[in-house]
Amino acid sequence: MRKYHQNKESIYPYHEWKIVEDEFRPEYNHRNETIFALGNGYIGLRGTFEEGYSGDPKTTTPGTYINGVYESEPIYYGEFIPKMPEVGQTMVNLADWKIIRLKVEDEWFDMLKGQLEEYQRVLDLKRGVLQRTLVWTSPKGRKIAVDIQRCISLTDQHRAVIKFSVTPLNFSGQLIFSSEVNGDVQNYHHLREKALKVVKTEVNEDQGLLIQETNNTKIAIAFAIDHCFKSSAKDFSFECENITRENEIAIKYIWYGKEGQSYQLEKYISFYTDLDVSREELETVVKREVSEAKKEGFEILLNKQYQFLKDYWNEVDVKIEGDLALQQGVRFNAFHLLQSCGRDGRTSIGAKGLTGEHYEGHYFWDTEIYVNPFFLYSQPEFVKKLLLYRYNILDKARAKAKLMGHRGALYAWRTINGHEASALFEGSTTQYHINAAIVYAIHKYVEATDDIDFLLNYGAEIIFETSRCWADRGGFIPLKGNKFCINEVCGPDEYKPGVNNNCYTNYMARFNLQLGVKVARMMEEEYPDKFKALAEKIGLKSEEIEYWQRCADEMYLPFNEDLGIHPQDDSFLYKEELDVDSLSEEDIPLVRNWHPLNIWRYQICKQADVVLLMFLLGDLFDLKTKKANYDYYEPRTTHDSSLSACIYSIIASEIGYRKDAYDYFMQTARLDLDDYNNNTHEGIHAACMAGSWMCVINGFAGMRVYDGKLYFNPYLPEGWTGYQFSIRFRGRKLNVYVKKDQVNYTLVEGNDLEFYHCKKKVKLKTGEIKQMKVKG
Ligand code: BGC
Repeated sequence: MRKYHQNKESIYPYHEWKIVEDEFRPEYNHRNETIFALGNGYIGLRGTFEEGYSGDPKTTTPGTYINGVYESEPIYYGEFIPKMPEVGQTMVNLADWKIIRLKVEDEWFDMLKGQLEEYQRVLDLKRGVLQRTLVWTSPKGRKIAVDIQRCISLTDQHRAVIKFSVTPLNFSGQLIFSSEVNGDVQNYHHLREKALKVVKTEVNEDQGLLIQETNNTKIAIAFAIDHCFKSSAKDFSFECENITRENEIAIKYIWYGKEGQSYQLEKYISFYTDLDVSREELETVVKREVSEAKKEGFEILLNKQYQFLKDYWNEVDVKIEGDLALQQGVRFNAFHLLQSCGRDGRTSIGAKGLTGEHYEGHYFWDTEIYVNPFFLYSQPEFVKKLLLYRYNILDKARAKAKLMGHRGALYAWRTINGHEASALFEGSTTQYHINAAIVYAIHKYVEATDDIDFLLNYGAEIIFETSRCWADRGGFIPLKGNKFCINEVCGPDEYKPGVNNNCYTNYMARFNLQLGVKVARMMEEEYPDKFKALAEKIGLKSEEIEYWQRCADEMYLPFNEDLGIHPQDDSFLYKEELDVDSLSEEDIPLVRNWHPLNIWRYQICKQADVVLLMFLLGDLFDLKTKKANYDYYEPRTTHDSSLSACIYSIIASEIGYRKDAYDYFMQTARLDLDDYNNNTHEGIHAACMAGSWMCVINGFAGMRVYDGKLYFNPYLPEGWTGYQFSIRFRGRKLNVYVKKDQVNYTLVEGNDLEFYHCKKKVKLKTGEIKQMKVKG
């Protein structure tokens, strides 16, 4: 195994439920902005400081983003290529609404000046609150204690609150809180022009309003703030000053602070866009929301947050006994996934969640193949919404297919609004496999939930339109034995674009086509009216369905008898070999350091490709084949994509390579926390985070669902004393607790359940616990 990440020491003490920063070190500031980011699937805020940051501007990216709010700019191509997207889509950095600056007599509070003691910042995964406490002595010797809590509501998606407390410790004197919303912001990456203009500012006593609008996409975003100022001091009074400028609003609280007394500002924030409510209502709605938040108050908001998270952890938590670092890693990941997940059917999950501008906030296949499984077996309703998003952009996928000269629908490789947003077709449009990824996710969702209505009303249309696209995209090639071949594609391995018969793509396309036939036949038989209506709507003919069957039956599925492996594509085995272990740290990732032609010509893979197929359609391959493919591709894979290691870990578990499985899991579980790729500052790696869950559940516990049946094949990784998780499947909740030589299966909720433990059928009644032996 190539040691592609040098395991780094953690800068956070290991803790079961918290991420703690004990010392403020500016060299980690940028990374920590991602680690301590908060969000709720609707809005995200990087972990920047309320008072701002006076350090090196290269080490800070103050950012706040709303899922689905983007700006478009023309894409300039060096040379003309027909049918390429004309405009991009970039998630916009919005008004900075978290600002609370503190003035202590004539000095502004700034952690980079004066002296800092007792500093601690804690992200509490149970409470969903970010808290910073410290004692600061100003350059002129004034000492204050500060306590700041920040919370973005997970229950009320349009609300957030910050509570900022200050206590003068060695003086009495004038203090000022300046609570601001600054609309004079811009993106740090990708956009050439400023995306936003401020169209309205208003301040009135404790309340303020700022409305922005994107220049080209014309999305309006409104922020309302309201405040509550309190103190422990008796006979305390303050003055309030309202300021509106062209691009910002500020409300200043000025008071005389007494030594030893504490003063607190609660800042309530609400945010809405005209994608949520009409433009006319926007102002009223956002103001009403913030007033309600204030009325409800800080304690209730935090209490609701805690209750929400209690339920969440009850569903998703993976308990690891015997390794605190990994425990912390998987919980941190599960927390960030929740924060990233769009839940309105209009948005999805960006590759970086809502924590950074890299990848421009785009949604990829990462959602369907990596993140969906994490939510599917605990919060299936989230997955339904994510799939509804795909349904809602189906027309755009139809348009893309048309543009490309194909029938049916072709989903964009990277997008926010449904249209293709990539200017690089080699890495995007070539990845036709995204169509199959979406269909695979629909199938998995219906299989795990029995939500037949979803299939009939939404899923089927996607399945049919993508089947159409595959049937149109491939052809029967005489020199390939008249088999159905799909040429000029890129599989998951982005280091091999423009290849013929990518094995992964062909298998997944076949899966897609077979499902198309199956669902059409099932609907014809069991829901004839629904089928007729849908067939009419999309002009589906029975000859077409027969043709899908023929394409699937005749699909070219590459296999090399001599090596006993599936060649990744027609040319892969004919390329030069390159020793991946010989690559230096300067070479890696190749995508950033080598000319593409030098990457494409070798037998090297960026990420799991055939090996991913061995996992997704695992019932089609025997153990020997899985092992042979793993042995072949593993030494040829650089894992330059963070989507790779988890898949290798899962297959390594299955074929009994436990050390590899563990090592690859280690590269996954704390990738962001320990900044293995030196790029956490750019934002989280959402797919990899979900991959860490898969390593445990699909890897160590060997969970698979084949043909509607649930299988486990668990073992305990060395050094652990146990691990435990629950999954929801077809209305049941099953708890799985793996210990040294045994596993306990408990049916916590739902009707009797039948599943397989190490190929043996097990039946459980509600509430029943069964103890089984675990392979040594
Ligand atoms: C990977 C893709 C992935 C994208 C976004 C790329 O580096 O190769 O598979 O979809 O990142 O995470």
